[in-house]
Amino acid sequence: MQVVRDPKAFREACEAARVRGERVGLVPTMGALHEGHLSLVDRARSEGATFVALTIFVNPLQFAAHEDLGRYPRTLEADLEACRSRGVDLVLVPEDGSMYPPGFQTEVAVGGITKRWEGVHRPSHFAGVTTVVCKLFALTGPCVAVFGRKDYQQWRVIERMTLDLDLPIEVIGHPIVREEDGLALSSRNRYLSPEERTRALGIARGLHAANEAWRAGMRDADALAAIVRGPVEAAFDSIDYVAVASPRSLEPIDGSATEAVILVAAHVGRTRLIDNLELA
Ligand code: PAJ
Repeated sequence: MQVVRDPKAFREACEAARVRGERVGLVPTMGALHEGHLSLVDRARSEGATFVALTIFVNPLQFAAHEDLGRYPRTLEADLEACRSRGVDLVLVPEDGSMYPPGFQTEVAVGGITKRWEGVHRPSHFAGVTTVVCKLFALTGPCVAVFGRKDYQQWRVIERMTLDLDLPIEVIGHPIVREEDGLALSSRNRYLSPEERTRALGIARGLHAANEAWRAGMRDADALAAIVRGPVEAAFDSIDYVAVASPRSLEPIDGSATEAVILVAAHVGRTRLIDNLELA
């Protein structure tokens, strides 16, 4: 496994792989890797990638001033070991300053779909994400890129950007990896005290209950949201949103919807958790 710090060296290694005839797979991350991230590596392989590149970059552009950039977990040695054992071919850990050198002044921002839900609570977040992901796409070149549905809106925003800008990238959304008790794996779970960890299960419980109601025929968005809110309100300190939305546009559904996704963001102690479920 090759580890590079210079984005240009990363570009050259991806280019060399393509010249050898490899299909390049890209897995962008912010590190503190867990099984959710590593499942994306496996997915890249099963999508036909013969050369898998993973990036580890805690992207300052996507954090607001009051958010957890400073305390975001950094576990580089363990991350590289996990990548090695999972068969990753190339890792980019950009040197400080190399992604946004002095003079950098470009933003890639997607419209409507970024304005709702996460976008309301984190107004500059998605522009930070799409700017860095666009750069990573450009560095990697034509490839298949794998994102987790854990960050459902992020995945849909990146799909939109790729379509709108005709980027030669196949974007895959991989299902959420959960703990046995239902908690979605997240780098931020390590912030939780044992007591908060138990309370955090309220989201998965609420989502599960809403899915049962959907299967029983319930299509009313407010009623479905209320089912989710029950256990989340009981266990969490505050809720940012519970959204019942159309899976692709993320607009609220109406009563005739045949598919929906429920998106949740809530705070337990100092930690903000997000989760979602595609109703089926
Ligand atoms: P990060 O939070 O590190 O997540 C990297 C990728 O792992 C994302 O696509 C995310 O959805 C996926 N992921 C995280 N937890 C998961 C889980 N439990 N199951 C499945 N996939 C999971 O998302 C980001 O980083 C950044 O915004 C990034 C795209 C790298 C841009 O900076």
